[in-house]
Amino acid sequence: MISVMDVSKSFGSKKVLDGISMTIEDGEIFGLLGPSGAGKTTLIRVLTGQLMFDGGAAMVNGKDIRKLTGADKKKFGVMMDDFGLYERLTCYQNLRVFADIYGVGDEEIGTVLREVKLEEATKKEVKKLSKGMKERLRLARALLAHPQVLFLDEPTSGLDPQTSSEIHEIIKKRKDAGTIIFLTTHNMTEAEKLCDHLVLLNEGKIVERGAPKEMCLRYDHQKRIEVVTKDGECISMGMNKENYEETGRRIADLLREGTLSTIHSKEPNLETVFMELTGRKLEV
Ligand SMILES: Nc1ncnc2c1ncn2[C@@H]1O[C@H](COP(=O)(O)OP(=O)(O)O)[C@@H](O)[C@H]1O
Ligand SMILES: [Mg+2]
Repeated sequence: MISVMDVSKSFGSKKVLDGISMTIEDGEIFGLLGPSGAGKTTLIRVLTGQLMFDGGAAMVNGKDIRKLTGADKKKFGVMMDDFGLYERLTCYQNLRVFADIYGVGDEEIGTVLREVKLEEATKKEVKKLSKGMKERLRLARALLAHPQVLFLDEPTSGLDPQTSSEIHEIIKKRKDAGTIIFLTTHNMTEAEKLCDHLVLLNEGKIVERGAPKEMCLRYDHQKRIEVVTKDGECISMGMNKENYEETGRRIADLLREGTLSTIHSKEPNLETVFMELTGRKLEV
């Protein structure tokens, strides 16, 4: 479990994390969703012991993060931009460097390269890999020592949908094996698809939290549905106290005429929720 209690961090006079509190349970994928500059990377750096913070407290698996030892940090898998790869070494050699630090054998390197579907590239130099392959290698390195907690900073940022969904599958499998996943993203589709719980972060402050679907339903003020007829006409109808009877009658008419094709609810998505709370977009 990870618990964060009133954590603050400033750079000079700029408050980048402002009273952050959250709890992340074992075996869940937890997402920190916010636009660029919200403070996501800073929070990961704080929680992994790379950056000291000013106030508050945080515990990861019962350990105070101000007192993390080298052995504690070995239980974390971390994937973030400034953990570079050695461009002139092969995939295998890159992982070997980390395997030595973590005391991991060659067999594990083979297993993890298979897990991220890079076994064919084992002997390929990193500089010859595509962007997606490099990202999978960085993920392999984070997974190598079977971490208890996996911190992923924007794991699919800038990747094509195919590679992104491959990375999502790998993450879900590790979750099923009991790993806590803490990830950041500015992509609401990724947050919605992947995360059990989310925190929306804006300018260092938490503006909302909860399960993605439940969060969207909480902001469903309009309560509208969308009806598509067999001619392809799309009609938006209200479902609140004032108009649900009228909507019911119109749908009954369409059914009687046999012209109804589909009905679906039109809840807000995470982008509209974020917009309502902050007046800002997640992606610019
Ligand atoms: N080392 C640093 N020194 C000064 N300002 C920083 C530093 N790291 C981050 N910041 C600032 O903190 C804010 C949050 O940054 P960051 O955590 O990287 O956001 P995100 O990952 O959500 O895009 C930004 O305004 C950024 O410019
Ligand atoms: Mg960042």
